[in-house]
Amino acid sequence: MKPLIELPFLSHGHATLKDVEESVRFYRDFFGLDVVKTSPRTLVARLGSNTAIVGVTLGEKGLAKADRPWLENSHFGFDFETADDVKEARELSLEHRENFNIQNVGELVEDEEGFSFMLFDQDGNYWQMLENQAGGYSRYFKKDCDTLHALASFSDSEGDNRASVLKPHLMSHMTCEVIDMDKSQAFYEEMFGLECVRLDPKRMLGRLNSVAIIDFIETDTEIRDHKMHNHIGFDVAGPEIVDTAREIIIDNQERFDFEVIHKTSGSHGSYGFTFSDLDNNAWQIEDYPRGGYYWMFEQGGDLENKFQPNVSGVDDWHELIDPETYEYIGEANS
Ligand SMILES: [Fe+2]
Repeated sequence: MKPLIELPFLSHGHATLKDVEESVRFYRDFFGLDVVKTSPRTLVARLGSNTAIVGVTLGEKGLAKADRPWLENSHFGFDFETADDVKEARELSLEHRENFNIQNVGELVEDEEGFSFMLFDQDGNYWQMLENQAGGYSRYFKKDCDTLHALASFSDSEGDNRASVLKPHLMSHMTCEVIDMDKSQAFYEEMFGLECVRLDPKRMLGRLNSVAIIDFIETDTEIRDHKMHNHIGFDVAGPEIVDTAREIIIDNQERFDFEVIHKTSGSHGSYGFTFSDLDNNAWQIEDYPRGGYYWMFEQGGDLENKFQPNVSGVDDWHELIDPETYEYIGEANS
């Protein structure tokens, strides 16, 4: 079945920050993520694929105002291959806790999937360190998906030169809580075309041409406010497709019980819009190249101009993509 909106790729999830420099240091030197500062208030990070973590500064006051008791259910998960690696990562986290202002290093837990623990960082974000096989959650899906863009610029032969404290090998998932899994599954499959695998009545994995997946959990969280800060984003090829997608969302608002559909705007350097769904979860659809934030990691360091490429004479990333395929082709096009 063709989904109502054709989305190419699971592009990004969000984390909120107090101070970009501190977070760059934490993400890079502690976690070993690939990090690019994209403006004085934002960063983008990845690990093992191009599904990115977008960090946005809310500042101390902003974070305090956006009280999000559900934030643990909106964590990112980093994989380690063995139980011993997870245990070692926990010891290292305790050892380096003060240096990286980590608020809490959770207890080691064991379930049928292996060992894991949760980190609660200086900004109030949660990060799960878990035991998981190479390939993350891919083994739960029947077929392979198209990972051309998810894995663009990654190769197996790369050695691990990271000097970070922890060395997880993959950002395998972002977590997203829902109220009624059946209702939400229908929405994700019919609207977004996510490939969904139910692990149990209250848990489901969702994938979209990605290595990193969304780990959906059914919860009875009472307060589901301020989810816009932690939206999950998809990219489409051009402003017209953004507008069309928004019309489709509006047409289906009653059917799927969408809460609020925002006007289009230019958040983090792209034309797009956000909307919140039946679970108060927020989603973003934006005009961005194939592979999402992949091109930002191709700029050879932090971005010199907010959200734009480090190519002289080029003011806008649109100049560096093939208008037909929407592939990032870099300087060759300029
Ligand atoms: Fe976003």
